[in-house]
Amino acid sequence: MTVWAILLAAGRGERLGLDHPKAFAKLGEDPLLAEPLRRLEDSDWIDGIVVVAPPGWEEPAILLAEELGCGKANSCVPGGETRADSVRAGLAEVPADALVVLVHDAARPLVSDELIGRVLAPLSEGWDGVVPGLPVTDTLKRVGSDGGVLETVARDGLYAVQTPQAFLADVLRRAVAGDAEATDCAAFVEAAGGRVKVVAGDPRLLKVTTADDLAKIASWL
Ligand code: C5P
Repeated sequence: MTVWAILLAAGRGERLGLDHPKAFAKLGEDPLLAEPLRRLEDSDWIDGIVVVAPPGWEEPAILLAEELGCGKANSCVPGGETRADSVRAGLAEVPADALVVLVHDAARPLVSDELIGRVLAPLSEGWDGVVPGLPVTDTLKRVGSDGGVLETVARDGLYAVQTPQAFLADVLRRAVAGDAEATDCAAFVEAAGGRVKVVAGDPRLLKVTTADDLAKIASWL
């Protein structure tokens, strides 16, 4: 099976408070984007990589891929206004003969080969999509705009879902066609009636949102 990865790096990352996009924030010595790019390149599961860069940052992204010797990253496109638009931009670059598409947030740099294998396996058992998730352990409350608690939400069966998310390519292409919005790709496949499975996620797949997250991830390298 031919597996293509879409590496989403087009977010602005405003909460980091930098004058450049999150993908180019420093993680150790390198830009954040270098870590997931290197890991996807080194994964035997992955045949090709499309990098979705912040608009105007395609050239630095291509240069970085070249510096790292990422021969699989032969396509780089500017992202869109929303994550879903960026997914559509990346998907347009995935060759028509790709069987599986793996969508990954560059903001989750510590993707492992083991986890990639875990999300790919159920696709050969009749699932349309597979996402890594961690069971929610905190008590959940819905809170109103005044800070008042509206209700306590039962957490049984609730998972916090991460990336990489794996899909049969034709199912994902059909599901994201149009201009709907969602915060992950699985939501499109679910809405289209597809079967999505959750497998064990990884706490080290923390998404970089704040400078503290970057420091924490750097300490895990
Ligand atoms: O904004 P958020 O943290 O949810 O973004 C998750 C991932 O999606 C990040 O890797 C970010 O670069 C990417 N993204 C994108 N295009 C956007 C917004 C987010 O590629 N317009």
